[in-house]
Amino acid sequence: MSRSRIALIGSGQIGGTLAHLSAIKELGEVVLFDVVEGVPQGKALDIAESSPVEGYGSKLVGANEYAAIEGADVVIVTAGVPRKPGMSRDDLLEINLKVMEQVGAGLRKYAPDAFVICVTNPLDAMVWALQTASGLPHEKVVGMAGVLDAARFRYFLSEEFDVSVKDVTALVLGGHGDTMVPLTRYSTIGGIPLPDLVKMRWITQKRLDEIVQRTRDGGAEIVGLLKTGSAFYAPAVSALAMAESYLKDQKRMLPCAAYLNGEYGVKGLYAGVPAVISAKGIDRVVELELTSAEKDQFKKSVDSVKGLVEACQKIAPNLG
Ligand code: APR
Repeated sequence: MSRSRIALIGSGQIGGTLAHLSAIKELGEVVLFDVVEGVPQGKALDIAESSPVEGYGSKLVGANEYAAIEGADVVIVTAGVPRKPGMSRDDLLEINLKVMEQVGAGLRKYAPDAFVICVTNPLDAMVWALQTASGLPHEKVVGMAGVLDAARFRYFLSEEFDVSVKDVTALVLGGHGDTMVPLTRYSTIGGIPLPDLVKMRWITQKRLDEIVQRTRDGGAEIVGLLKTGSAFYAPAVSALAMAESYLKDQKRMLPCAAYLNGEYGVKGLYAGVPAVISAKGIDRVVELELTSAEKDQFKKSVDSVKGLVEACQKIAPNLG
């Protein structure tokens, strides 16, 4: 049994799914935290009661006090409100910004050495706010979006081509929103890049464009179906893949919302780029050569993240 501690800030749909998966995978002791009394305790107990059936030995606790996350190795933050139909991720900004300030203070005090994965939306602005509020090093605070966006793209492609998801790779850059940039040139079926498959007439450019658009709208599609909240199964596994890479020093190269300090011509902002996650956190950001069309799309996406961060700075000038 691993001696790691995984703290989940927010014990809602994603937090509960994360707790269940972390326990099944025996990643370590799981601490569920939430502001609502009883929910983290109830979910911790419910999942613990499933352990005799599944045969795992993970310890789970629920808490309403930040002291419970003390010494956490990984913290995954889903605290805040999710989208309802008709809302964009950006509509959540004001409420979730306040939540990030509280969570940041808790991290600073009780888990300053943790690797922190932010999931709360609007993602690229909230991960910026969380890092700023917590004061943790940039390489230890990262946002989960690209793994999920790429997973959606991969799933849609596997359906289209009627091939195993295992043989589909995809890369998505930019912010987690309508301006995200699914990179078809770096997405493959069995190693064959998508533009080549268009040339081979396996798919038309028009159909590929439709799949790219469905990927961009992937979150809204689920919100439209669920009506009372947003996606949680795929976001949870995506965040956990990043946590595992850190805990096990796997050095997986995953698209993450990482802090950019000049890479891609961006300084002082978080945006979705491929990065290697090791025991150090973000080990390195991978800088790709982009075509001028891709550069334009990436810039548009980064500009929209910049706008959100500026809105955060107006609401909370003390944040930096
Ligand atoms: N501190 C801790 N927890 C909080 C706080 C806070 N200040 N404010 C709200 N929460 C808790 C809520 O009580 C709730 O249990 O955060 C949890 C959020 O859970 P859900 O509403 O079920 O939302 P979920 O689907 O898990 O999504 C969480 O991730 O993908 C994003 O857009 C999504 O921002 C949303 C977040």
